[in-house]
Amino acid sequence: MTRQRRTAEPYKIKAVEPIRMTSREEREEAIRKAGFNTFLLDSKDVYIDLLTDSGTSAMSDNQWAGMMLGDEAYAGSRNFHNLWDAVTNIYGFKYMVPTHQGRGAEHLISQILIRPGDYVPGNMYFTTTREHQERAGGTFVDVVIDEAHDSQNLHPFKGNVDLVKLEDLIRRVGPDRIPYVSIAVTVNMAGGQPVSMANLRAVRELCDRYVRSDGRPVRIMFDATRCVENAYFIQQREEGYSGRSLRDILREMMSYGDGCTMSGKKDCLVNIGGFLCTNEFEVYQEATQLVVVFEGMPSYGGLAGRDMEAMARGIYEMVDDDYMAFRVSQVQYLGSQLIEAGVPVVRPVGGHAVFLDARAFLDHIPQSEYPAQTLAAALYVDSGVRGMERGNVSAGRDKEGKERFPKLELVRLTIPRRVYTNNHMDVVADSVIALHAQRETLGGLKMVYEPPQLRFFTSRFEPIRREGFWEFVKG
Ligand code: F0G
Repeated sequence: MTRQRRTAEPYKIKAVEPIRMTSREEREEAIRKAGFNTFLLDSKDVYIDLLTDSGTSAMSDNQWAGMMLGDEAYAGSRNFHNLWDAVTNIYGFKYMVPTHQGRGAEHLISQILIRPGDYVPGNMYFTTTREHQERAGGTFVDVVIDEAHDSQNLHPFKGNVDLVKLEDLIRRVGPDRIPYVSIAVTVNMAGGQPVSMANLRAVRELCDRYVRSDGRPVRIMFDATRCVENAYFIQQREEGYSGRSLRDILREMMSYGDGCTMSGKKDCLVNIGGFLCTNEFEVYQEATQLVVVFEGMPSYGGLAGRDMEAMARGIYEMVDDDYMAFRVSQVQYLGSQLIEAGVPVVRPVGGHAVFLDARAFLDHIPQSEYPAQTLAAALYVDSGVRGMERGNVSAGRDKEGKERFPKLELVRLTIPRRVYTNNHMDVVADSVIALHAQRETLGGLKMVYEPPQLRFFTSRFEPIRREGFWEFVKG
């Protein structure tokens, strides 16, 4: 029998950051203090931190070297020009405005383009994106394909836009009420699911058929936060793309849009940073006016010169084919261990995270008792692994104040870029599998503090019954 050949990380480790291993008692105390919300845990109490892939990347030696070349001028920093060149080269848009992170760009574009009464169709909501759209007076309308809401459907491009849903909306409200179609590549809340090139092309064609009274067709704005991961799935799964470079594929993807918002904290391999892109001069001009009020001069947008340099260099590194192949394969490595052990996860496993299907995992806990919040808290207690709730708590309340009860009730185990080895993934898999074996001992939670917006960040919980897994809360 021939042994299967394996590949390893396409980088080696030059600096290490020690992490602390904690005792079960310490973790019980920590989760209690954190109100059973993993967002409120201190990082010092976390062993393997899979809360997010946002701002948690390890930078390369080349990026660190760039940090020393920060030109900290108030205006016209040379790092801004490097960032401009990297963005316009790799993404292909005409204009770019830096922002402190993705939501800064979302804020700008929402304020510039959305008017009260507008509708913003999107392929599933993202928390901050929808918040900014609604603050500007818009109504978000989900136009993702139905398959995206089904955790077990094996569609290869579950992030696709449903063209019928989109066209129905455009016809119903008219193109003038649609400032743009918001397309996330990949779709975070669906499990890191990609959009196919064929679908992007079709959405472009559809939008081109609906011309607004200002003379332009309905716009497409990408949420390009994890666009290279999306490009990788196109390369792997879509006919005609297997021989093409990620750089090429990304350029084609972006060519179907009119601009993008970007959280550089993900694909761009930096700890802070973002930007807004547009092909329209008027939109760019308005963005340069607004950015001064909310972020900083248009040549720094809330970032230090060194941050812009690190992001410019990260942009060239993110499209390296070997790097991205390893990145996604590490996520798949964790996912397949869990699938083999019979743990319910969102399938196919996406690009940045493995999502545990908490409704199936804890099918005895009703959604009103927050099964995903429960599972995330329990996983931390079991092993010090920190994941994130992406279910009823994250979905929040609708305009009438009712909980949204989303179809997907998930715990996200998000893999930071270039940070952990596959040994860490093994530890995570062991813990999830052990917890799955004792799932019946887990009871649900009740919310005891709820902030008005984006409640998942700071809400607090308590076990409904202090028994089984939660026995320790008595003490
Ligand atoms: N869009 C998507 C798809 C995101 O995942 C995020 C952030 C943003 C926009 C906002 O960007 O954080 O730089 O302001 N997602 C993080 C996460 C917070 O953990 O998934 P930001």
